[in-house]
Amino acid sequence: MDGNGRWARERGAPRYEGHRAGMKSVRDVVEGSIEAGLEILTLFAFSHENWQRPAHEIAFLMKLLQLYAKSEGQELADTGVEVHVVGDMERLQKSARKAIDLITSKTRGGDRLQLVLAISYGGRAELVLAARRLAERVVGEKLDPDDIDEKSFAAELLTAPWRDPDLMIRTSGEYRISNFMLWQLAYSELYSTPTLWPDFTREDLFEAILDYQRRERRFGKVSV
Ligand code: IPE
Ligand code: MG
Repeated sequence: MDGNGRWARERGAPRYEGHRAGMKSVRDVVEGSIEAGLEILTLFAFSHENWQRPAHEIAFLMKLLQLYAKSEGQELADTGVEVHVVGDMERLQKSARKAIDLITSKTRGGDRLQLVLAISYGGRAELVLAARRLAERVVGEKLDPDDIDEKSFAAELLTAPWRDPDLMIRTSGEYRISNFMLWQLAYSELYSTPTLWPDFTREDLFEAILDYQRRERRFGKVSV
């Protein structure tokens, strides 16, 4: 979800106005995902690197997260959306963690859409964590290094419960992965749109899906 700051700047507004406007897009895209029949939607809400932003902007984003959990939790639960988070929760303040606990417990059991929020998330950090967990199991003689393969490695990732993304949409015209799901994106289709996140609607999501449907995914093999 990129381009909130630029959206605000275009209007001569402070950056936080862009973040606030971006909330509307989240709502619309979640509903659109259900409408389109998606099983899993992951939103990159706050990166590991975003901790380097000014303290007041971080505080605003955390407030927004709490507001989202409070105001949307019930409706998400009613529509069958199950919310999950991936990321380094240790770095979050207690109040933000509480909000996350609230929304994940309230929506537990939702079976129409899995909504994964990547918060305080970094792809490299996730890989390092997986490597550390495997190493600990080897040291504890619970794992033979010869048994480390792609499957056992992926099982240590924060995203272990879910399939790899089919499609990654990047808003605001960037062509970067920005440390997002480095392992999981190996064979994902990438889609970039110049639309800034606060202007992104379910129609833009549908357009991205239509584009995806025209792609031929060969996974390194040849066409049949
Ligand atoms: C994305 O918008 C929102 C978050 C990273 C939380 P940005 O804040 O990165 O917006 P730009 O890139 O400055 O336009
Ligand atoms: Mg940005």
